[in-house]
Parts: sequence; C-alpha cells; structure tokens
Amino acid sequence: MLKTIEATDPAFRDDVLAGLSAPIPAVPARWLYDRRGSELFDEITRLPDYYPTRTETALLERVLPEIAERVRPNSAVVEFGAGSATKTPLLLDAVKPVAYIPVDISGDYLRDSAAEVAERFPSIAVEPVIADFARPFDLPDSIASHPKLGFFPGSTIGNFVPRTATDLLRSFRDLLGCSSQLLIGMDKVKPVERLIAAYDDPTGVTAAFNLNLLERINRELDGDIPIDAFRHEARWNDILSRIEMHLVAVRDVTFTVGGQSFSFAEGSSIHTENSHKYGPRGSRVLLLAGGWTPLAEWSDPAGDFSVILAEALPNRFAP
Ligand code: AVJ
Repeated sequence: MLKTIEATDPAFRDDVLAGLSAPIPAVPARWLYDRRGSELFDEITRLPDYYPTRTETALLERVLPEIAERVRPNSAVVEFGAGSATKTPLLLDAVKPVAYIPVDISGDYLRDSAAEVAERFPSIAVEPVIADFARPFDLPDSIASHPKLGFFPGSTIGNFVPRTATDLLRSFRDLLGCSSQLLIGMDKVKPVERLIAAYDDPTGVTAAFNLNLLERINRELDGDIPIDAFRHEARWNDILSRIEMHLVAVRDVTFTVGGQSFSFAEGSSIHTENSHKYGPRGSRVLLLAGGWTPLAEWSDPAGDFSVILAEALPNRFAP
C-alpha cells in the first residue's frame, strides 16, 4: 500500500474500529479535522448559511472593549485551540495580555499560527503548547504569577455532550486556577430551518466535510469504503438540543477497515458530530456546573450567538 505523508495516530484506528462496531455506530468528531477536513471547515465558515463564525467575530469586535475592562491587567491568555487568524488578534488587541499560550494537538499548524501572532504582537510573549486540551497538561512556568484568561471561542464546547463538556470546563478550572477567567463562545437554539441550513448547505461543502472522514479512513486505515454508498445528513435532535451529523448508508453495504469487516444496512448511519445549542440560560448553567461563575454575557442583536465571561470563584459554603 502507498503510504501518505500524514502519519496515522493509533488513537484514530482504535476509535474508528470501536466506533464502527458500537451498537450506535459513531466516530468522535475530532477525527473530521485532518488537513483536508480543516480546509473544508474553513470553507464552511465562509458559507452564507453558516452564521456562527461571522456572528461571533462581529460580536467580539463590538463588545471586546467592555470585556477588556473586566479582565485583570497583565493577564496571560490561554487559548484552547490553535487560534483563529481573525478572532485571536481582536482579543489580543483589546486585552493587551503579557503572554499568549495557544494549546493545540496539531504541532505544525500551531507553530505557524503562533509565529504569525508573535510577529504581529512583538510585546506579547507567545508560548505555544502542543497538547490535547481535553487531557491533562502543564502551562509554562513563565506565566505562573500572572492572572489567567482562558479563551474558548467558536462554540467548540458544543462538540461535547454535557457530561464531557462539564469535565472539560472543570479541567480548565484546575489548569488555570482559582480567580482565573474564561471567555467562551456558545451557539444558541434557533428555528430548525436555520440550523439545518447551516449544517447542510446547498453547495455541498458540509457534505464533503463529513464524507472526508470516510476518505481519511480509507487512506490512513487501509479501508475500502465505497464513498458513494453514504450520504451526509444533518439532524436536529430536539430533546438533546443539538445538531447531529450522520453518514447514512444509501444501500446495504459491506466493507473492510484495517482487516475488519463491517456491514451497514440501507438507512443505518454513522454518527460523526454533535453541535449542541443552548437556550437562554442553559449556557450559564453548564458553566456553573463546570466550576465557572458567569460575570457577563453578550449576544448579537438577533440573539444567534453568545460570548460569556466567567470567573473561577473560590469554593464557598453553600447558603
Ligand atoms: C467547529 C464544532 C464549532 O459545530 O458548528 C460546522 C463544526 N460541523 N459544520 C460547529 C461544524 C459542521 C463546528 N464547530
């Protein structure tokens, strides 16, 4: 077999083989984001129907002066994810931190984006950390004495089911420490038609993004999945308040991955991503459950998206 340049993560293999044989077949959403997947996601953020990115960016642009007033001077910003070329500079410009620590699992991408930030903000110490932010890791000693502001934009929290989202928020609190702050972007519940349009665009970019997972499996795990046997589907799960992406079999299909055989009946699906949406107060309850007390929430005029500033208050006796 021809080997590609992208090295295969053993965890990808484990997750795919376990996920495809599970009673409800599913593959964790993080595996959608290989190089091609990240390019396609970038394209998604520019689609007319995909509102979250442009709404959050415009919102940050408008309210960052107010946010900055509430952030402690000489803070160190810790971003969970490599940072976006537009949102991160907006934050750094407004908050003027002493240090910026982007945390991302993809070392190549992280180094490039960190170098860009370092060049643009010569007075900020940029210290990237290569780590999976969903697992324990350490912050550089250099920021030990500075107040910390976590930054988790893009409604990435929406990828996690409430139980793991709570675990993640608690791990952020453990990492950043008591009295630190968190600025987080969360997507809101809105009419189903708009949600479906955002996750099933007429140009098929989201479909290509979802189907790319099968191409990646074929390439990296020696699979022979016929891609045309699956179609992209975006579903609104109302009781769980989330958009789900599925790959639905359009006919009965059998294939092998890594030497293992799998069969899918027509109409059965592989669940590939969740994108949770929060009601008016739901986002704040989630933060509180994760150990973060909301200080203020800002939304765009249409109420499509929120950013919340929260603080890790010391534990108190319950009243
Ligand atoms: C990157 C997880 C925020 O849920 O809106 C976009 C991913 N998937 N279209 C989202 C995504 C399909 C996106 N997040």
